[in-house]
Amino acid sequence: MSSIDIKHRRKTFRCDRPKALMFHKNTVFYQTMNKNHNHALNRPNSQSEDKKMLVGYNKGEKEEVFRKMLKETYTLRNGVEIPKLGFGTWQIEEGEDAYNAVKTALEVGYRHIDTAQGYGNEKSVGRAIKDSAVPREEVFVTSKLEAHIKDYEGAKEAFAETLKRLDTDYIDLFIIHAPLPWGEMGKDCDEGNVEAYRALEDIYNAKKARAIGVSNFEVKHLQNILKNNEIVPHVNQIGYFIGIDQSKTIDFCRENDIFVEAYSPLGIGFLLENETVQNIAKKYGKTPAQICIRYLLEKGVSTLPKSVHKNRMIENSEVDFKIVDADMKTLDAIEGDPRRWDEIF
Ligand code: A2P
Repeated sequence: MSSIDIKHRRKTFRCDRPKALMFHKNTVFYQTMNKNHNHALNRPNSQSEDKKMLVGYNKGEKEEVFRKMLKETYTLRNGVEIPKLGFGTWQIEEGEDAYNAVKTALEVGYRHIDTAQGYGNEKSVGRAIKDSAVPREEVFVTSKLEAHIKDYEGAKEAFAETLKRLDTDYIDLFIIHAPLPWGEMGKDCDEGNVEAYRALEDIYNAKKARAIGVSNFEVKHLQNILKNNEIVPHVNQIGYFIGIDQSKTIDFCRENDIFVEAYSPLGIGFLLENETVQNIAKKYGKTPAQICIRYLLEKGVSTLPKSVHKNRMIENSEVDFKIVDADMKTLDAIEGDPRRWDEIF
């Protein structure tokens, strides 16, 4: 991300809507984010840089390089394969933006698309998958139950709506988006999570979802599910990137065979400004984004970089290299969440 991008982001991310609105309901929260972020998406980039990325490869080689990592998978506890690299769609607005981004990502070779009810873009994500040349069964599709839905019936109804919006008769992974409704930090939702997850178990048993799980769950939230539900979540999707210590949650997940997915691998872009990351990138002849993504793959988790730019989608997939232990340690030592929320909202 260039300094121009960052400046532009600062300006466009400033939000003049009342903050309370954002936490009124997930959908409002996300849609507000999408609206503001969308201006930031139209930064100078695309076409000419896309061409630059392709110089030096003939078509066959290019596809080989681009698609290698995108083809690799991990295996969930129930035998379902999940591509190591996914395409995140948070902050991509419903309509042409989401449609074009997902369609392009599929063309580039991504086979793992991550959306959520709360992102408000499932319809366009589904349309892009349908219109692409890629057969449905070759795409791993994830969606998430809205964070405020904490009852059995509500969860089942919401899932049915997701299938309709995505225009598919099954989903690859369906997860509870968060242990608590957004903005209700102190709330006790243990019972509600058990109820909502019970709906996910029934969805899984009815073969409407190939895997189920949770997102943003800490150890205590996972313990509640393990104690009161039947199926151990296949996946916990958490915010995990250089600078954030998620070791407690990850250790617990590993002990219980819960696969970890990392969202916001680039710290929503802010991590790319980190000097240590930049220096290591120079040393490897890679970009800071590639270092951030490779770091997570070295940790054995799958990750979901988001970009609306084709050249960046390609760049983010070219991560078939190794970061040596000493450099991993240097990256481990970076402390602090790089995300500057005041610039986003
Ligand atoms: P854009 O969509 O305009 O390309 P994260 O995946 O951690 O949420 O980060 C997403 C942010 O990082 C978005 O703002 C995205 O902007 C930006 N981004 C994604 N890939 C790259 C890249 N390779 N170089 C620079 N910025 C990137």
